[in-house]
Amino acid sequence: MKIFINKLIPEAGMQILARPDIDLLMPEKPELSYDEWISYCQQCDAILNIGAFKIDGQFFDLCPSVKAVSLFSVGYDQVDLAEASRRGIPVSNTPDVLSKATSDIAFMLMLMVSRLASFHSNQVRVGVRFKYFNPIANLGQELYGKTLGIFGLGRIGYEMAIKCKAAYDMPIIYHNRNRHPEMEEKLGARYVSFEELLQQSDVLSIHANYTPEQQHTFNAEVFAQMKPTSIIVNTARGGFIQEDDLYTALQEGQVWGAGLDVSDPEPMSPDSPLLKLERVCVLPHIGSATLEARSGMASTAARNIVAFVEGKPMPTCLNP
Ligand code: DGY
Repeated sequence: MKIFINKLIPEAGMQILARPDIDLLMPEKPELSYDEWISYCQQCDAILNIGAFKIDGQFFDLCPSVKAVSLFSVGYDQVDLAEASRRGIPVSNTPDVLSKATSDIAFMLMLMVSRLASFHSNQVRVGVRFKYFNPIANLGQELYGKTLGIFGLGRIGYEMAIKCKAAYDMPIIYHNRNRHPEMEEKLGARYVSFEELLQQSDVLSIHANYTPEQQHTFNAEVFAQMKPTSIIVNTARGGFIQEDDLYTALQEGQVWGAGLDVSDPEPMSPDSPLLKLERVCVLPHIGSATLEARSGMASTAARNIVAFVEGKPMPTCLNP
Protein backbone atom coordinates (compact mmCIF):
# COMPACT_ATOMS: atom_id res chain seq x y z
CA MET A 1 0.00 0.00 0.00
CA LYS A 2 1.11 3.51 -0.69
CA ILE A 3 1.47 5.67 2.42
CA PHE A 4 2.23 9.38 2.40
CA ILE A 5 4.27 10.68 5.31
CA ASN A 6 4.73 14.43 5.05
CA LYS A 7 7.81 14.76 7.30
CA LEU A 8 10.61 12.52 8.43
CA ILE A 9 9.75 11.05 11.83
CA PRO A 10 12.08 9.51 14.45
CA GLU A 11 13.81 6.25 13.58
CA ALA A 12 11.56 4.17 15.88
CA GLY A 13 8.63 4.89 13.56
CA MET A 14 10.57 4.66 10.28
CA GLN A 15 11.73 1.15 11.25
CA ILE A 16 8.16 -0.01 11.87
CA LEU A 17 7.16 1.33 8.45
CA ALA A 18 10.06 -0.37 6.64
CA ARG A 19 8.08 -3.35 5.31
CA PRO A 20 7.70 -4.82 1.86
CA ASP A 21 3.92 -4.21 1.88
CA ILE A 22 4.39 -0.48 2.56
CA ASP A 23 5.46 1.87 -0.21
CA LEU A 24 6.38 5.14 1.51
CA LEU A 25 5.97 8.41 -0.31
CA MET A 26 7.88 11.31 1.20
CA PRO A 27 8.15 14.93 0.01
CA GLU A 28 11.42 16.40 -1.14
CA LYS A 29 11.12 19.45 1.10
CA PRO A 30 10.07 19.78 4.74
CA GLU A 31 7.32 22.40 4.36
CA LEU A 32 4.56 21.90 1.81
CA SER A 33 1.85 24.30 0.68
CA TYR A 34 -1.72 23.02 1.07
CA ASP A 35 -1.92 22.28 -2.67
CA GLU A 36 1.38 20.40 -2.67
CA TRP A 37 0.26 18.41 0.36
CA ILE A 38 -3.03 17.53 -1.33
CA SER A 39 -1.29 16.37 -4.49
CA TYR A 40 0.86 13.93 -2.47
CA CYS A 41 -2.16 12.69 -0.48
CA GLN A 42 -4.07 12.08 -3.72
CA GLN A 43 -1.55 9.41 -4.68
CA CYS A 44 -1.93 7.36 -1.48
CA ASP A 45 -4.07 4.82 0.36
CA ALA A 46 -3.37 6.31 3.78
CA ILE A 47 -1.46 9.18 5.33
CA LEU A 48 0.72 9.57 8.39
CA ASN A 49 0.26 13.25 8.98
CA ILE A 50 2.11 15.94 10.88
CA GLY A 51 0.64 19.42 10.91
CA ALA A 52 -2.43 21.57 11.00
CA PHE A 53 -3.90 21.34 7.47
CA LYS A 54 -7.61 20.59 7.76
CA ILE A 55 -8.64 16.99 7.21
CA ASP A 56 -12.32 17.54 6.52
CA GLY A 57 -15.00 16.94 3.89
CA GLN A 58 -13.09 19.01 1.32
CA PHE A 59 -9.94 16.97 1.96
CA PHE A 60 -11.77 13.64 1.58
CA ASP A 61 -13.46 14.89 -1.62
CA LEU A 62 -10.08 15.93 -3.05
CA CYS A 63 -8.31 12.74 -1.92
CA PRO A 64 -10.78 9.86 -2.47
CA SER A 65 -8.01 7.23 -2.36
CA VAL A 66 -7.15 8.05 1.28
CA LYS A 67 -8.81 5.38 3.41
CA ALA A 68 -7.04 5.95 6.74
CA VAL A 69 -5.41 8.83 8.60
CA SER A 70 -2.74 8.33 11.24
CA LEU A 71 -2.05 11.60 13.06
CA PHE A 72 1.31 12.40 14.59
CA SER A 73 -0.30 14.24 17.53
CA VAL A 74 -2.61 13.63 20.42
CA GLY A 75 -4.74 16.65 19.47
CA TYR A 76 -7.08 16.16 16.55
CA ASP A 77 -8.75 19.54 16.23
CA GLN A 78 -7.63 19.74 12.59
CA VAL A 79 -9.80 16.73 11.74
CA ASP A 80 -13.54 16.62 11.12
CA LEU A 81 -13.93 13.32 12.90
CA ALA A 82 -17.69 13.10 12.32
CA GLU A 83 -17.10 13.49 8.57
CA ALA A 84 -14.33 10.87 8.58
CA SER A 85 -16.60 8.46 10.50
CA ARG A 86 -19.48 9.12 8.10
CA ARG A 87 -17.18 8.07 5.25
CA GLY A 88 -15.87 5.06 7.19
CA ILE A 89 -12.33 6.45 7.38
CA PRO A 90 -10.44 5.55 10.57
CA VAL A 91 -8.42 8.34 12.17
CA SER A 92 -5.87 7.66 14.91
CA ASN A 93 -3.82 9.86 17.25
CA THR A 94 -0.84 9.38 19.60
CA PRO A 95 -2.12 9.48 23.19
CA ASP A 96 -0.17 8.73 26.41
CA VAL A 97 3.36 8.85 24.97
CA LEU A 98 3.59 12.64 25.27
CA SER A 99 1.66 13.21 28.50
CA LYS A 100 4.74 13.43 30.71
CA ALA A 101 6.68 15.67 28.32
CA THR A 102 3.76 18.04 27.75
CA SER A 103 2.93 18.28 31.44
CA ASP A 104 6.63 19.05 32.07
CA ILE A 105 6.23 22.10 29.85
CA ALA A 106 3.07 23.17 31.70
CA PHE A 107 4.90 22.76 35.00
CA MET A 108 7.95 24.60 33.70
CA LEU A 109 5.86 27.49 32.36
CA MET A 110 4.08 27.77 35.70
CA LEU A 111 7.43 28.04 37.46
CA MET A 112 8.98 30.32 34.87
CA VAL A 113 6.08 32.74 35.10
CA SER A 114 5.89 32.59 38.89
CA ARG A 115 9.59 33.55 39.10
CA LEU A 116 9.61 35.89 36.05
CA ALA A 117 12.26 33.70 34.44
CA SER A 118 11.88 35.03 30.87
CA PHE A 119 12.14 38.58 32.06
CA HIS A 120 15.18 37.97 34.25
CA SER A 121 16.90 35.92 31.57
CA ASN A 122 16.37 38.73 29.07
CA GLN A 123 17.77 41.19 31.59
CA VAL A 124 21.01 39.24 31.57
CA ARG A 125 21.09 39.17 27.76
CA VAL A 126 20.66 42.91 27.44
CA GLY A 127 22.93 43.73 30.39
CA VAL A 128 21.41 43.83 33.85
CA ARG A 129 20.83 47.32 35.09
CA PHE A 130 21.51 46.61 38.75
CA LYS A 131 24.70 45.36 40.35
CA TYR A 132 23.20 43.89 43.50
CA PHE A 133 19.75 42.38 43.66
CA ASN A 134 16.95 44.79 44.20
CA PRO A 135 15.09 43.90 47.43
CA ILE A 136 11.72 45.16 46.29
CA ALA A 137 11.54 45.01 42.49
CA ASN A 138 10.62 42.28 40.03
CA LEU A 139 9.59 39.75 42.63
CA GLY A 140 7.93 36.49 41.75
CA GLN A 141 5.57 34.46 43.85
CA GLU A 142 5.89 31.01 45.43
CA LEU A 143 3.65 28.11 44.64
CA TYR A 144 3.60 26.16 47.93
CA GLY A 145 0.05 25.29 48.90
CA LYS A 146 -1.47 27.36 46.10
CA THR A 147 -4.52 25.91 44.33
CA LEU A 148 -4.06 24.33 40.94
CA GLY A 149 -7.11 24.47 38.66
CA ILE A 150 -7.12 22.05 35.77
CA PHE A 151 -9.35 22.80 32.80
CA GLY A 152 -9.68 19.41 31.12
CA LEU A 153 -8.54 16.57 33.35
CA GLY A 154 -7.25 14.02 30.86
CA ARG A 155 -3.89 12.27 30.74
CA ILE A 156 -1.81 15.45 30.44
CA GLY A 157 -3.81 17.35 33.07
CA TYR A 158 -3.46 14.39 35.39
CA GLU A 159 0.34 14.35 34.98
CA MET A 160 0.48 18.10 35.65
CA ALA A 161 -1.61 17.64 38.79
CA ILE A 162 0.65 14.83 40.05
CA LYS A 163 3.74 17.04 39.66
CA CYS A 164 2.13 20.06 41.33
CA LYS A 165 0.94 17.97 44.24
CA ALA A 166 4.32 16.30 44.74
CA ALA A 167 6.38 19.47 44.37
CA TYR A 168 4.21 22.08 46.11
CA ASP A 169 1.42 20.19 47.85
CA MET A 170 -1.05 22.12 45.72
CA PRO A 171 -4.73 21.35 46.31
CA ILE A 172 -6.27 20.31 42.96
CA ILE A 173 -9.61 21.43 41.56
CA TYR A 174 -10.78 20.65 38.05
CA HIS A 175 -13.48 21.30 35.53
CA ASN A 176 -14.27 18.89 32.75
CA ARG A 177 -17.11 17.77 30.52
CA ASN A 178 -17.22 14.52 32.51
CA ARG A 179 -16.17 13.76 36.05
CA HIS A 180 -13.29 11.35 36.64
CA PRO A 181 -13.91 9.74 40.06
CA GLU A 182 -10.81 7.55 39.81
CA MET A 183 -8.47 10.48 39.11
CA GLU A 184 -10.30 12.55 41.73
CA GLU A 185 -9.51 9.92 44.30
CA LYS A 186 -5.86 9.50 43.31
CA LEU A 187 -5.26 13.26 43.31
CA GLY A 188 -7.61 14.16 46.13
CA ALA A 189 -9.03 16.51 43.50
CA ARG A 190 -12.34 18.32 43.70
CA TYR A 191 -14.67 18.76 40.73
CA VAL A 192 -15.91 22.36 40.46
CA SER A 193 -18.04 24.46 38.12
CA PHE A 194 -16.25 26.56 35.51
CA GLU A 195 -17.01 29.70 37.55
CA GLU A 196 -15.53 28.18 40.69
CA LEU A 197 -12.46 27.07 38.75
CA LEU A 198 -11.90 30.68 37.71
CA GLN A 199 -12.50 32.09 41.16
CA GLN A 200 -10.46 29.55 43.16
CA SER A 201 -7.44 28.78 40.96
CA ASP A 202 -4.07 30.32 41.79
CA VAL A 203 -2.69 28.55 38.73
CA LEU A 204 -5.15 27.65 35.99
CA SER A 205 -3.73 25.16 33.51
CA ILE A 206 -5.56 24.36 30.27
CA HIS A 207 -5.41 20.74 29.11
CA ALA A 208 -8.74 20.13 27.36
CA ASN A 209 -9.23 18.78 23.86
CA TYR A 210 -9.87 21.74 21.60
CA THR A 211 -12.97 22.01 19.44
CA PRO A 212 -14.08 25.06 17.41
CA GLU A 213 -16.97 25.63 19.87
CA GLN A 214 -14.37 26.33 22.55
CA GLN A 215 -12.71 29.15 20.65
CA HIS A 216 -11.94 32.02 23.07
CA THR A 217 -13.39 30.24 26.10
CA PHE A 218 -10.89 32.36 28.01
CA ASN A 219 -11.92 35.92 27.20
CA ALA A 220 -12.39 39.27 28.94
CA GLU A 221 -15.49 38.12 30.83
CA VAL A 222 -13.63 35.07 32.11
CA PHE A 223 -10.41 36.89 33.04
CA ALA A 224 -12.48 39.34 35.08
CA GLN A 225 -13.52 36.43 37.34
CA MET A 226 -9.97 35.21 38.01
CA LYS A 227 -7.80 36.09 40.99
CA PRO A 228 -5.55 39.12 40.40
CA THR A 229 -2.67 36.94 41.61
CA SER A 230 -3.48 34.06 39.23
CA ILE A 231 -1.27 32.52 36.58
CA ILE A 232 -2.79 31.01 33.45
CA VAL A 233 -0.92 28.25 31.61
CA ASN A 234 -1.86 26.93 28.18
CA THR A 235 -0.16 23.92 26.62
CA ALA A 236 -3.28 22.72 24.77
CA ARG A 237 -4.33 24.88 21.83
CA GLY A 238 -3.95 28.62 21.26
CA GLY A 239 -7.58 29.00 20.22
CA PHE A 240 -8.76 28.60 23.82
CA ILE A 241 -7.49 32.10 24.68
CA GLN A 242 -8.54 35.47 23.29
CA GLU A 243 -5.04 36.94 23.28
CA ASP A 244 -6.02 40.63 23.09
CA ASP A 245 -8.27 40.13 26.11
CA LEU A 246 -5.45 38.33 27.92
CA TYR A 247 -3.14 41.25 27.25
CA THR A 248 -5.69 43.69 28.67
CA ALA A 249 -6.36 41.45 31.69
CA LEU A 250 -2.62 41.28 32.42
CA GLN A 251 -2.20 45.03 31.99
CA GLU A 252 -5.17 45.76 34.22
CA GLY A 253 -4.07 43.30 36.90
CA GLN A 254 -7.00 40.90 36.54
CA VAL A 255 -4.55 38.07 35.87
CA TRP A 256 -1.00 38.10 37.25
CA GLY A 257 0.89 36.12 34.61
CA ALA A 258 0.65 33.76 31.66
CA GLY A 259 2.69 30.85 30.35
CA LEU A 260 1.83 29.89 26.80
CA ASP A 261 3.25 27.02 24.78
CA VAL A 262 0.54 27.52 22.17
CA SER A 263 -0.89 30.59 20.49
CA ASP A 264 -3.29 31.57 17.74
CA PRO A 265 -1.88 31.88 15.14
CA GLU A 266 1.27 29.84 15.54
CA PRO A 267 3.96 30.89 15.72
CA MET A 268 3.03 33.98 17.74
CA SER A 269 3.98 37.14 15.90
CA PRO A 270 7.17 38.69 17.31
CA ASP A 271 5.14 41.92 17.37
CA SER A 272 2.59 40.52 19.82
CA PRO A 273 2.29 42.92 22.77
CA LEU A 274 2.15 39.87 25.04
CA LEU A 275 5.86 39.34 24.42
CA LYS A 276 6.63 42.70 25.99
CA LEU A 277 5.12 41.78 29.34
CA GLU A 278 7.42 40.73 32.19
CA ARG A 279 5.06 38.12 33.56
CA VAL A 280 4.51 36.34 30.28
CA CYS A 281 6.52 33.43 28.98
CA VAL A 282 5.84 32.14 25.47
CA LEU A 283 7.20 28.98 23.86
CA PRO A 284 6.72 27.80 20.25
CA HIS A 285 4.57 24.68 20.86
CA ILE A 286 7.23 22.35 22.23
CA GLY A 287 5.08 20.24 24.58
CA SER A 288 6.03 16.95 22.94
CA ALA A 289 9.50 18.02 21.79
CA THR A 290 11.62 15.39 23.55
CA LEU A 291 13.42 12.46 22.00
CA GLU A 292 11.37 10.07 24.12
CA ALA A 293 7.94 11.57 23.38
CA ARG A 294 8.57 12.04 19.67
CA SER A 295 9.90 8.48 19.38
CA GLY A 296 6.79 7.22 21.16
CA MET A 297 4.59 9.26 18.83
CA ALA A 298 6.46 7.89 15.83
CA SER A 299 6.01 4.28 16.98
CA THR A 300 2.32 4.77 17.77
CA ALA A 301 1.58 6.52 14.48
CA ALA A 302 3.52 3.89 12.51
CA ARG A 303 1.76 1.00 14.30
CA ASN A 304 -1.56 2.54 13.36
CA ILE A 305 -0.49 2.55 9.70
CA VAL A 306 0.69 -1.06 9.91
CA ALA A 307 -2.64 -2.10 11.44
CA PHE A 308 -4.49 -0.43 8.57
CA VAL A 309 -2.25 -2.13 6.00
CA GLU A 310 -2.93 -5.49 7.67
CA GLY A 311 -6.67 -4.83 7.65
CA LYS A 312 -6.83 -4.60 11.45
CA PRO A 313 -8.30 -1.84 13.65
CA MET A 314 -5.84 0.94 14.37
CA PRO A 315 -4.72 0.57 18.03
CA THR A 316 -5.43 4.19 18.94
CA CYS A 317 -8.36 4.84 16.62
CA LEU A 318 -10.38 7.94 17.48
CA ASN A 319 -13.61 7.18 15.64
CA PRO A 320 -16.37 5.97 17.94
C1 DGY B 1 -0.23 17.26 20.04
O1 DGY B 1 0.24 16.12 20.02
O2 DGY B 1 -1.44 17.49 19.96
C2 DGY B 1 0.75 18.37 20.13
O3 DGY B 1 0.16 19.53 20.58
C3 DGY B 1 1.36 18.60 18.79
O4 DGY B 1 0.38 19.06 17.92
